[in-house]
This record gives sequence, C-alpha cells and structure tokens, in this order.
Amino acid sequence: MSATVIVGGQWGDEGKAKVVDFLMHDHDVVIRFQGGANAGHTVVTDAGRFAFHQIPSGVLYASVTGILGNGMVIEPFALLDELKELTSRGIDVGGRMFISSAAQIVMPYHRILDNLMEADLKGQSIGSTGKGIGPAYGDKHMRSGLRMGVFLLDKEELYDIVKAKVEAGNRLLGLLGGPPLSSEKVASDFARIRDLVSRFVVDTQELVHTMKAQGKRILLEGAQGTLLDIDHGTYPFVTSSSCTIGGALTGTGLAARDIGRVIGIFKSYVTRVGNGPMPSELAGAEGVELRERGKEYGTTTGRPRRCGWFDLVAGRYSVRLNGYDEIALTKLDVISGLRGIKLCTAYELNGKRIVSFPQSLSDLAKCRPVFEEMPGWSAGEIRVDQFSEFPVRARRFIERLESELGVPVSFISTGPAREETVIRNAAYSFDRK
Ligand code: GDP
Ligand code: IMO
Ligand code: MG
Repeated sequence: MSATVIVGGQWGDEGKAKVVDFLMHDHDVVIRFQGGANAGHTVVTDAGRFAFHQIPSGVLYASVTGILGNGMVIEPFALLDELKELTSRGIDVGGRMFISSAAQIVMPYHRILDNLMEADLKGQSIGSTGKGIGPAYGDKHMRSGLRMGVFLLDKEELYDIVKAKVEAGNRLLGLLGGPPLSSEKVASDFARIRDLVSRFVVDTQELVHTMKAQGKRILLEGAQGTLLDIDHGTYPFVTSSSCTIGGALTGTGLAARDIGRVIGIFKSYVTRVGNGPMPSELAGAEGVELRERGKEYGTTTGRPRRCGWFDLVAGRYSVRLNGYDEIALTKLDVISGLRGIKLCTAYELNGKRIVSFPQSLSDLAKCRPVFEEMPGWSAGEIRVDQFSEFPVRARRFIERLESELGVPVSFISTGPAREETVIRNAAYSFDRK
C-alpha cells in the first residue's frame, strides 16, 4: 500500500492539520517526518479545538497509529505536556503512538541558544519560534546531537550522557554570553522522565516498513511549508528542516517507490510568520482585513501573520519541487465576500517581468508583485456541499488556480470544521463527518 504525503505549499499554516485529520478517514497510520514544536497544527472537531505541536494531528481517531519520525527534533518535556493535555481531553494514545529512536532531542540549551542567536542578529533576525529548532538541527548535522534512543538506556547511563552534553552545551552558551545550565539538574530531569518517555521509543523505520507490508494505509504529515525549506526556501529566512517531499523520505526511512500521492496544501491567499521576503504581502488595510477575516495569528507563538494575495509564482515553484498529484485549497470562506480578489501572476524585478521564483534572496527582496484582479462572490454562497453549487466566480477562481499550477484541486476547505470540506475527486468517497 503506497503512502500519501501532505506538504505545506506556501510559508506554513496552510491548514495542513485540518486536511490530515480529514484524510485520516482513509488511513491507518500518521507520521510526522520533520520539524518539532515550532509547528502549530489545529484540528477542530465537535469536541473543540486541538492544537498539535509534536504529536501527529491524525491521532484523534482511536484506531490510528501515530508516529514521530526520525526526521523530527523532539522536546521531551513539552511532548509530555502535550500528551497530558490530550489525555485530559479523553484522547489516549497509549499503545498506538511511537517515537523514532533516531529522532533528535531538543535540549534546554538549544532553546536558549536559539534566542541568543536571534538577539545577536539584531535587525536581521529570522523571527524563529524560539523553540530551539535551528540549534537542535545544527547539532544533528554537526553529529553532536542526542537521539531519542538514549531514553532506552538505564537511568544512570542516561544521566551521565545528558550531564556531559549539557556541559558541552554550556561551553557554546558561554560563547554567546549566556548563563550556564546546571548539568546535574538537567540530567536528573531527564532521568526522572525516562520511564514516561521510553515506552514510546522504538525503531520506527522497522515499524513503518512492517506496517506497510501489512497493507496499512500510511499518511505522512509535513510541518511548515515549501518556502521555509532549509534548501529550497527563502534562506536564511527558513526553518532548519526539509519541509518538501525529500524530507518525507529522509524523515521516515520510506523509499521513493513507497509514495503513492503527494497532496499540496494551499491557502486561498498567503501568510507568513517571522521575517523574510514575501512578494505578494499586503502592507496596508487589505492585509489587515485578510488577517482579521482569517484569524491569522500563530498557533504556536500567537504572533500576527503577515498576509498577502495568492502568489502563483511561488505556487508554481512549490508544484515543481514537490510534484503534487493534487491540491487541497483551504480558507476559501475567508476570501468569500470580498469585492475583488487578486492573484500575483508575476514579479517585477529591476524593471523586468519575471515568472519564475528567484533563488537569490536579494533579488527576491527586490521583487514587486504583479497583481491581476478577479471579481469576488458573496460570502453566503460558499456554504454548500458541492463544487457545482459554488458561485460561478468562485469556481472560476479555483479553475484559474488549477490551470496556472497545472494540478487539480481535489479538496476545498470552507471552514475549520471537519464537515466544512468539499471533495472534488470521485476517488474519495468516505463520510465527511
Ligand atoms: P497548519 O499549521 O498548516 O496545520 O495550520 P494552522 O493550524 O497553523 O492554521 C490554520 C488555521 O486555519 C487553524 O486555526 C484552522 O482551524 C483554520 N482553518 C483550516 N481550514 C480552514 C478553512 O477552510 N477556513 C477557515 N476559516 N479556517 C480554517
Ligand atoms: P506549521 O507546521 C509558520 C517560521 C518561523 C520563522 C522560521 C524559523 O504550523 O505550518 P524556527 O522556529 O523553525 O527556527 O523558525 O520559520 N515557522 C513557521 N511558520 N508555520 C510553522 O509551522 C512554522 N514553523 C516555523 O516563524 O520565520
Ligand atoms: Mg501552523
């Protein structure tokens, strides 16, 4: 059985979790393949709003197995808090959640380093979530990180390894003028949670391949988005992991031939949290209106998201990189009721019109959007179940996206709830409730 991959098509917060939760009807296993607690993934059900950070968003169904893949960086204390919160709301993942022993640990000094490094950048800061993500991936690639497998060691060994790591971390903190951590305190904190964490830790690569062989239907949940990818995003204003399709392989141990379809999640406009260029950004009242209509405030940090019109140049780049089979378009309700809706069809760079996404950050920062306006439709008209019942102008907007991006839009989300989803592909026949 081949796997489905969910990838953020833009700068994150496209509504990936809503789509993951929705598609879980059709899958048995959900795997987060990269990122960590920088992610904020919101699912809305009859039981209320759930904000996931490290636990995969698909676990609300009791039959689903959730896996935190080897590509992730995991903060174990925050993970236990997230688990506790889920349990208090009646969601028990005991026996059906697994953590890769090869996933990296986000250590307390990573978070401090993240904030010190951001402060050091002064006006040029990335605008990170402050969760220690960059330093944790830095340690991974310098081969000096700790992996979740250390929780499988006995308490004394775990204590000694963590203590030595914190002492090394303190030397780095010292370079940036940060106060040292108590290595004994951190090591005993780790020893204290050892039994709580170790019961989840396994070789997930082995587990995933076993489940695949058993015919289990696997869904891979991406975090962040294509333009925040460490290689292909707007470097250095990116996160530190591979948010694009490549990360789905390295972050799970699946092979390319195991991937059946790739679904790109796109918002009907664009948003960005943190710093870095976003050519179709709306600085004035239009941007504020989109933010308020879409409630565009970060799930993890509460920061206001920067808003702009749908960027077709960045969209085509995202399609090229990820090879989407299908698109899920979210938040169509947010742009419904506007008099006019714009699309960024090209950029203007040094007086020339360009249609491909520049790799150079300084070029990208100089790009000005070329907008084309399409007529809007009224807000009430969008609350229907069938695409064929959509107002003709809304259909034209979606069909225009399809022809510009060259990928069919299979799902249209018209609200945060599960049932506010319109399916346009006959292959999906499951109950939407
Ligand atoms: P993710 O990080 O990609 O999973 O997205 P977030 O959860 O950070 O942000 C998406 C926000 O939009 C969440 O609050 C969702 O509940 C909400 N949302 C998702 N789809 C829709 C939609 O179609 N319409 C509206 N109005 N809200 C949506
Ligand atoms: P989800 O999965 C939106 C952004 C931060 C910052 C940059 C680097 O909810 O879509 P980091 O803390 O990763 O070092 O920050 O990346 N960022 C996100 N923006 N959604 C996210 O996750 C993000 N995770 C990180 O704002 O600009
Ligand atoms: Mg989010």
